[in-house]
Amino acid sequence: MPVQIKISQDNESWVREAAAEVVEQVKKTPASRLSFATGATTLPLFDELVKLNHAGEIDFSKVSAFQLDEYHGLERDNPASCAFTIKDRFYNHINIRPENCFFLDSKCIDPEDHCREYEALIRDGGGIDLQVLGIGLNGHIGFNQPGTQFTIETHPAEVDDFTWEKNTKFFKSVAENPREALTMGTGTIMSAKKILLLANGSGKKDIVCKALFGPVSPDIPASVLQNHPDLIVILDPSLSKLCSP
Ligand code: F6R
Repeated sequence: MPVQIKISQDNESWVREAAAEVVEQVKKTPASRLSFATGATTLPLFDELVKLNHAGEIDFSKVSAFQLDEYHGLERDNPASCAFTIKDRFYNHINIRPENCFFLDSKCIDPEDHCREYEALIRDGGGIDLQVLGIGLNGHIGFNQPGTQFTIETHPAEVDDFTWEKNTKFFKSVAENPREALTMGTGTIMSAKKILLLANGSGKKDIVCKALFGPVSPDIPASVLQNHPDLIVILDPSLSKLCSP
């Protein structure tokens, strides 16, 4: 199936259209296994899904959710952690069961082992039905940085300098900003039955163009998504003229 790219009319419809994909998935399969990126892109989506849940438009009571990535070494309750963000902004406000929310443990002692177990948890239960992604300015998805092999499963990853510097603003001090992370691999991501890639803001124009229309190469991890059989891309209007100067 060719990549479906939807360009929204305005910022409000961008979020509504993204949420509609999640609603459709959960209506079709109430016990869906979902996974969401954190970061600025998905925050408004979380807010919209909370609203829709309260309005009775989406029922998360049978849904399972798997964390996409996490810093390693960070305290579990650090507000900059991916787990804290997703609980604070999303899970704590919807009717998802806490026992159906699965997290990568930022304080795990043996990251390799922990990642292997996490991958098995995903695969043994039947994989991810819908994976929601953002994209980093260097083309990363999850913490899969440029150069990561496309087949890799959940693994410990180094946070590259570019992403590390960009993320410093989320931490109280530079020393707190971890150099290591745990992430579903591009192989894990590609095995999701459906992928929803979201991007907004003109600053993402160049990288979204390269990821969707450039060569499929580990240099741009998100370019692997071109090979996914069921990828939907939803972009805000500032990205309507992708790949034009
Ligand atoms: C975070 C994640 C990252 C972000 C990416 C974009 O869980 O998966 O790959 O999606 O860094 O971040 P924002 O949305 O802040 O531009």
